[in-house]
Amino acid sequence: MPTAEEVLRDAERTLKASRAVEHPHAGKERIDAEQILEHVLGREPDPDETLDPSAARRFGRLLARRAAGEPPAYITGREEFHGLWLDVGRGAFIPRQSSEWMADQAIRRLRARSRPVHVDLATGVGPVALAVASALPRARVFGTDLFARPVTLARRNAERLRLRNARFVRGDLFAPLPRALQGMVDVITVHPPYIGTRELRTIPHEILGFEPRGSLTDGSPEGMGLLSRVVAEAPGWLRPGGWLLVEVSPDRSKQVAGVIRRAGFRDVRSTKGPVPVSRVLTGRI
Ligand SMILES: C[S@@+](CC[C@H](N)C(=O)[O-])C[C@H]1O[C@@H](n2cnc3c(N)ncnc32)[C@H](O)[C@@H]1O
Repeated sequence: MPTAEEVLRDAERTLKASRAVEHPHAGKERIDAEQILEHVLGREPDPDETLDPSAARRFGRLLARRAAGEPPAYITGREEFHGLWLDVGRGAFIPRQSSEWMADQAIRRLRARSRPVHVDLATGVGPVALAVASALPRARVFGTDLFARPVTLARRNAERLRLRNARFVRGDLFAPLPRALQGMVDVITVHPPYIGTRELRTIPHEILGFEPRGSLTDGSPEGMGLLSRVVAEAPGWLRPGGWLLVEVSPDRSKQVAGVIRRAGFRDVRSTKGPVPVSRVLTGRI
């Protein structure tokens, strides 16, 4: 029987040799293998323990999925965001660590209000909404998403984390929100699907082959269709002085800032968090 350490070394070699997975930094393959083994055992492995045959077989099956490109979060069914463990699954976008910066920016602006209202559009499994609801128990938080699967997972996450101040509704952008929120919202956040259809073929297989198409692109050539609608409709929902926060990739930051400015927002800035793969544009009405 092989030890956990031997199994992990072997797994690392398999993942390093795979062309279906990204190799973003040294050690990533080992981290993925450890995450999968921990999931199989339900605890951290001891390097010297021998794996029983059924655990070794299950690990082998899950590792083969990873070697074919499937993201670890879909294999284990969970992802950590802002200190919260969230359920994730096929059919819903996997929360990215880079979005923690947008949650921080929202929390900073909402903290001073006595009964703050936050709307997270295109919420996915709810990472930003749930981070705000957890940090600010007095806040009322609403998340919307067009698709059923992410909304089901977001509701399940809110329930498991006992965050009763977060509510998730299914529909197009602002459409499913209670009308009474118009003119009352302190902060709107959105991490939209902004990849233009032309750009799609440059997206790694790990993402394009597994994450839902509707979470990556809005189907427009430049990827600005959904964002333009958000920017046009947001002023009708924000209170005077309320903030719009938009997460995009650094190369889109200037273009999106221009759209936000032209819609009449003030103090429009591009902010950069500790994970440099995205920017959060901020502007107030
Ligand atoms: C890039 S993902 C972001 C998800 C989540 N906010 C996060 O950061 O993990 C974009 C999300 O937009 C949702 N979406 C796409 N079109 C939408 C629409 N018209 N209205 C609301 N949500 C939409 C997708 O289902 C997906 O969950």
